[in-house]
Amino acid sequence: ENIPVADLLADPVEKIEKVNCTPHPAISLPSDIFEPARRNSAGLDLNDSQILEEVHESIRNFELPPRPEDATAEQVSEMIDTASLAFHEWSDLPVETRAAALERLADLMQEDMIPLMGLCAKEAKKTYQDCVDEVREAIDFCRYYARRARADFTEMPLPGPTGETNTLRLEGRGVFGCVAPWNFPLAIFTGQMAAALVAGNTVIAKPAPQTSRIAKAAVDLAYKAGIPRGVLHLAPGGAEPGQALVSDKRVAGIAFTGSTKTAKGIQRTLAEDDTRPIVPLIAETGGLNAMIVDSTALPEQVVMDVIASAFLSAGQRCSALRLLLVQEDVYDRTLHMLAGAMDTMIAGDPVDPATDIGPVIDTDAQTKLNDYLQRVRERIVHQIDVPDTDTFVPPSIVRLSEIEDLEQEWFGPILHVTTWKQGQLAETVRRVNALGFGLTMGVHSRIVDAADQVANEARVGNLYVNRSMTGAIVASQPFGGERLSGTGPKAGGPNYLPRFAVERVVTVDT
Ligand code: NAD
Ligand code: ALA
Repeated sequence: ENIPVADLLADPVEKIEKVNCTPHPAISLPSDIFEPARRNSAGLDLNDSQILEEVHESIRNFELPPRPEDATAEQVSEMIDTASLAFHEWSDLPVETRAAALERLADLMQEDMIPLMGLCAKEAKKTYQDCVDEVREAIDFCRYYARRARADFTEMPLPGPTGETNTLRLEGRGVFGCVAPWNFPLAIFTGQMAAALVAGNTVIAKPAPQTSRIAKAAVDLAYKAGIPRGVLHLAPGGAEPGQALVSDKRVAGIAFTGSTKTAKGIQRTLAEDDTRPIVPLIAETGGLNAMIVDSTALPEQVVMDVIASAFLSAGQRCSALRLLLVQEDVYDRTLHMLAGAMDTMIAGDPVDPATDIGPVIDTDAQTKLNDYLQRVRERIVHQIDVPDTDTFVPPSIVRLSEIEDLEQEWFGPILHVTTWKQGQLAETVRRVNALGFGLTMGVHSRIVDAADQVANEARVGNLYVNRSMTGAIVASQPFGGERLSGTGPKAGGPNYLPRFAVERVVTVDT
């Protein structure tokens, strides 16, 4: 019998029994643990079955609009001309005007939630729950940055000697380039653009080529919300418009989310021209994210959180679990339970609400992942079947001998596992750190000291104790990594907007 993962998670004890494991009697999880977006600000009543049926029907029938044409390098340059001219007027507006525009955008996205979900399902191949979360996160970014801007962009009086006044204020930098990935095609695309705009910058927004329709929908809604066309420009396409944007020395800052390799390339481009001003690069990149499980962890919760972290969204989250490190003593039991739970996952059409795992984004990604699985086929310890249509990759567990055998981020539903020995907890965390990335890490243990030890050693941006390690919520879990995983500051956090601004201090002799 196929049990959707959402059900498995809603009632872990009952469903784990079906995979022949002894449930832990103490397990007790809130039923919404797997839908953190319920706590977000935008509403769709997921408990109302009639509403749900209508929503599913609309998404199934949604027809993709034509793809916007790719921008050429010349067109990007023209956009920068216009955005440069519009900068001062936009930047001089009261922050309240810009914040109110973001809030209107949030309202419009909420009104258009169903077509936006249709776009995410059909263009980005997102499952139903991922579509809901995607739109909600975009809305949350707009509302949160509007609120933060009112606080951050208000003049701050500073102390000084008698006879003078000192004030500090933040202002936009100029034309900001925002370069987004396909895996959060609405949320991250909107978050970058909203932050840059509300800080007083004009924006050239370049989405990933795979998801330019979703980006166009977001930009059209931004225009409808009152953002002037000279202030915000959509530059669809891939590396060509991307390179034209980041290499133009009139661009005063770049917000980039994507692979570490592309971020490094942008860093080099920004440094190339000695006459170019030194501009900020805000880079959010990939991760080799580990979860450490000790022998005291609740097995059912571990299984549930591993499934969620490694396989949902077809593993296409930068935060996703890539490397499961299980204490030797409980390795066999954990893998047995995990395999049982994997067998209950449904891989299928993303528009079908029962689907847990959809296809990966495109044939390039599919080929890369399947070639890897073929190369390591002797080390695959569990795998489930997927349809042979579309771009599916079978969710798989690959056994490694050593932590260091994980060479790179495999951006799909592939989980690597290995063991660690009692007494080597801190050393295990240090070895994960030494892989060089620093995005997310998880620990499952009922020993408070063990969790504390991991927290002390881990050099990651987001650490999760006894829960899944994906689905950070705007304002509650500001998100972003360090070292090879990015520059910070964290998206959805209180330190994000100032990075899009210059600071000016004015001293007046009175
Ligand atoms: P990617 O690096 O291939 O592309 C990202 C963006 O950069 C796209 O818009 C792409 O067109 C553009 N680009 C490519 N070459 C460019 C160039 N030379 N100059 C300027 N722009 C260029 O990444 P992707 O495949 O779209 O996204 C997946 C990656 O993103 C994964 O590595 C994932 O971990 C990472 N990611 C990180 C976060 C985070 O918050 N840390 C979030 C989501 C995704
Ligand atoms: N913010 C996204 C998550 O936490 C990447 O999964």
